[in-house]
Amino acid sequence: MTQIPVAFDPAYVAAQSAAHDQIYQVEHAGKDPMRSVLEHNPEIYFVPPKRRSEWGQWEYRRGAYYDTTIGAKHVYWQNEDLPIETQDIRRLRSDLLRWGYCKIKGALSADQVSTVRRRVLDQAEGERRAGIAQRTPSGQNVNCCVNKGRCFEGLIEQDPAVVQGGALIEQLVTEMLGANWISTSLIASISLEGGVPQALHQDQDIALDARSPLTINILTAVTDIDETNGGTLVIPGSHEMLSTAMRNQKPVGKLPPAINVDAKAGTVVITDGRLLHGTGINRTASPRIVMLNGMQHPLIRQQENWMVSVKPEVLRRASAKLLQRMGYQATNAAQTNEGHGFGASGGVGEAAGATVDFRHALDAGNYMRVGELHPQATAKELTAPFTLRGVVAKARAGGQSAPVGIGGTKKNP
Ligand SMILES: [Fe+2]
Repeated sequence: MTQIPVAFDPAYVAAQSAAHDQIYQVEHAGKDPMRSVLEHNPEIYFVPPKRRSEWGQWEYRRGAYYDTTIGAKHVYWQNEDLPIETQDIRRLRSDLLRWGYCKIKGALSADQVSTVRRRVLDQAEGERRAGIAQRTPSGQNVNCCVNKGRCFEGLIEQDPAVVQGGALIEQLVTEMLGANWISTSLIASISLEGGVPQALHQDQDIALDARSPLTINILTAVTDIDETNGGTLVIPGSHEMLSTAMRNQKPVGKLPPAINVDAKAGTVVITDGRLLHGTGINRTASPRIVMLNGMQHPLIRQQENWMVSVKPEVLRRASAKLLQRMGYQATNAAQTNEGHGFGASGGVGEAAGATVDFRHALDAGNYMRVGELHPQATAKELTAPFTLRGVVAKARAGGQSAPVGIGGTKKNP
């Protein structure tokens, strides 16, 4: 038998791989500017995610990043020329470059707004009644909206019948990302009274030293948003401050304070993926609705479409490692399935992020996706054996194995 060279022995490899021996140490260590942000900006801290039982209970800290208001009322910002709601493409471009976001006035007409708002509210209530709502620390998300109403299809493709400002949005996004950008998701983000503010974060978590964004977000205000109802928290200009610090391998230093974005319903806010932002606090009894439509450079995905192309028998015998490597482990930011996988790290075998059972159900011919729901849905519609129920139940149970292909027949716990 041929002896395997010692250079390939895992123990030998590990012994040769002390931190100081590894390449790109500095670059990897500096990839996360949040460590530097937190060090120099103690008022920016992470709000721990809450369990459903703790939903809406949290400690408000005076002086924290979320203890703020809109730019026009903020002592620090009120004399600055922050982004304005406008349809002037030159102004929108300069707001994106300088502040990392812009506000397109009336991108949806009043009728277009009410169509989307009605559909989101009905769907959100339907999902609550069906026991499949995704609660978030801020309220509720409606995931995978493309399956849940024609208006959502139009939002993703900027169809002027759904988004009258579609052509202007497309032009700006193309200038930011280059041609042939793709959508990473369309989610309705509903902020409810008593919710927890989201930690400030950057959506783009790769190539943060880049001179232009690789991801952007199209936020459509479906209700008016402001400092009272959870208007998105942003630190204007932070996209440039953070990427410059990363590029120069310098500490981020003291950042200016966050503000709540204010916008009328129908305004589309485009944010640079490098901008520090988070969901604000809704102090009103009315839901605050923003459609989050992330767009990204088309190379941020796999070359081979393993989700569709892998043969069922290969999938059935695949190790947890092979599944993870082919992308069947969701991460918080990537390849969730109908929202399953939010909060997951993408680690091998992590039950919270395992998505292969959706494919198994598909192969077995019984993948039942969540579609349009509404408050008047029948008991049969509300108790339908959505595959999502079984996958979530399995993840909650700690990932005990279940027979292949029965995901669609499992009931919600
Ligand atoms: Fe975000």
